[in-house]
Amino acid sequence: MDKIVINGSKRLDGEISVQGAKNSVLPILVATLLADGVSVIHNCPIISDVDATIKILRYLGCIVTREGHTITVDSSGVNKNDVPDELMREMRSSIVFLGGILGRMGKAILSTPGGCEIGLRPIDLHLSSMEQFGATVTTENGYIVCSAEENGLHGTRITLSFPSVGATENIILAAVLAKGTTIITNAAREPEISDLADFLNRCGARIHGAGDSTVTIEGVSKLNSTEHTVIPDRIVASTYMIAAAMTNGRICLKDIIPAHIGPTIQPLREAGCDVTVNCRKVSLIAPPKLHRIRMIRTMPYPGFPTDVQAQIMALTTIAEGTSVIIENIFESRFKHIPELVRMGAKIRIEGRVAVIDGVERLYGAEVISPDLRGGAALVLAGLCADGITTVRNISFIDRGYEDFENNLSMLNADVRRKAN
Ligand code: EPZ
Repeated sequence: MDKIVINGSKRLDGEISVQGAKNSVLPILVATLLADGVSVIHNCPIISDVDATIKILRYLGCIVTREGHTITVDSSGVNKNDVPDELMREMRSSIVFLGGILGRMGKAILSTPGGCEIGLRPIDLHLSSMEQFGATVTTENGYIVCSAEENGLHGTRITLSFPSVGATENIILAAVLAKGTTIITNAAREPEISDLADFLNRCGARIHGAGDSTVTIEGVSKLNSTEHTVIPDRIVASTYMIAAAMTNGRICLKDIIPAHIGPTIQPLREAGCDVTVNCRKVSLIAPPKLHRIRMIRTMPYPGFPTDVQAQIMALTTIAEGTSVIIENIFESRFKHIPELVRMGAKIRIEGRVAVIDGVERLYGAEVISPDLRGGAALVLAGLCADGITTVRNISFIDRGYEDFENNLSMLNADVRRKAN
C-alpha cells in the first residue's frame, strides 16, 4: 500500500486543469449499455473507480478500450446480466449498473453492495423504484434479482423520499427504454444527473427537466451510441481551491463550470478568500489568516456538497475562531476527525455536528486515510502543517483523484508518493 509524504508549509501557487467528474463518468459508462453501437466518452479521469467500472462492462461482454482520457465502449456483445460479488465489492457505487442492465437485458442480478466507510448506503429507494416499473425484486443469498422479463418495464410516477443521486440515476437508466412515460418527483439535482441526461438525449432519449426536482422521461424504442465529453469534477476543483486557501496561496482552475462550485465559493469567501470567476476559470487568493466559517450544513445540490465536508473542515482547523459543520447526508462521515486531531486540530463531535476551534498551526504526523474525501482532507492538512505528514491507505484517494500528488507538486507543494 503506497503512502503520500508531505513536507508542509509551502504556499501553493499556480494553474491547473480539473479532471473529468468521477460521479458523472460512472453512470455515463453504465448508460453505454443501453445504446446500440460504439460510444466514445472523452475527459474520463484516470482513477481506480473508472477501472472498476470498465472491468464490469468487460465482464458483461462489452469491448472497452481506453486511450488516455477517452474510453470507447462497444456494447453490442453484451451477453450477461449479473455483477458478481468480487466486482461489486471493488466499488459499492456499482449499484448504478442495476438500471442499466435491467434496461438492456430485462433482468439484473447484482450482489448486494453493502455499506462502505461513510455509511450503510441503503438501496431501498433504488429497489422500490424498480418495482414501480413493473420489475420483481427478490434478494437471495446476498444477491438482488431484479426481473421484468415477462412484461418489460413500463413508465411510472416515482416520488423519492430523499433526492438520492444514485436512485435518480437508476430510475433514468431504467426509464429511457421503458414503454411509456416516467415522471420523477424530488429527483436529485446534482450536475452529474444533467450530464447523464445530456449523454442519453444525444443517444436519442427524451429526458426533460434533468437538474430540476421533477424529471420526465418518455421511453423510446432504441438508443444509438454517440460521443460525449464528461463535465469537470466540481468536488476535485473544490479540493484544490481549499488546498490553496489553506497554504496562504493562490490558484487558477481552468476548464471548470463555475456554477457547479458555487456552493463551495461562498464559504471560501466567508473565510476571507478572494475568489473571482470568469467563463470557465476560477481564481482564488488566500488571506494571510483564514477566518472561521460560522456554519456549514451539507445538503443535496445546490446545497454545500457532503463530498467537500472533510476538506472544508481541514480548512477550519487553522481558521481564526470557531466553525460549526453539520453532516446531514451520511451517518459516519467524520472519520477524518481523529486523524486531524492527531495533527493538533481542536474538534468536538456532537452526533452529526462538529465544532472546530481554529488553532495557530497544525503539526505533521503519521495519519491514515479513512475514506476517499477524508484522505484528501488529510493531505490538505499536511500541506499547511509544520513538518512532515505521512498519509497511508491512499488507495482510497486514488479512487477519485487523478495524479493528486503530481498536480499538487505542480502547484509548488513538496509532496511525494512512496511505496510502503
Ligand atoms: C452519490 O452517492 C455520490 N457517489 C457520492 O459521492 C455523494 O456523496 C452522494 O451521491 C451524495 O451527493 C456517486 O455518484 C458514485 P445518495 P449515492 O443516494 O448515490 C440515503 C464521493 O465521495 N439513501 O444521494 O450513494 C443514503 O443513505 C461519493 O464521490 C437511502 O436512504 O448517494 C444517504 O444518506 C461518496 N436509500 C443519502 O440518501 C437509498 O436507496 C444520499 O445518498 C439511497 C440513498
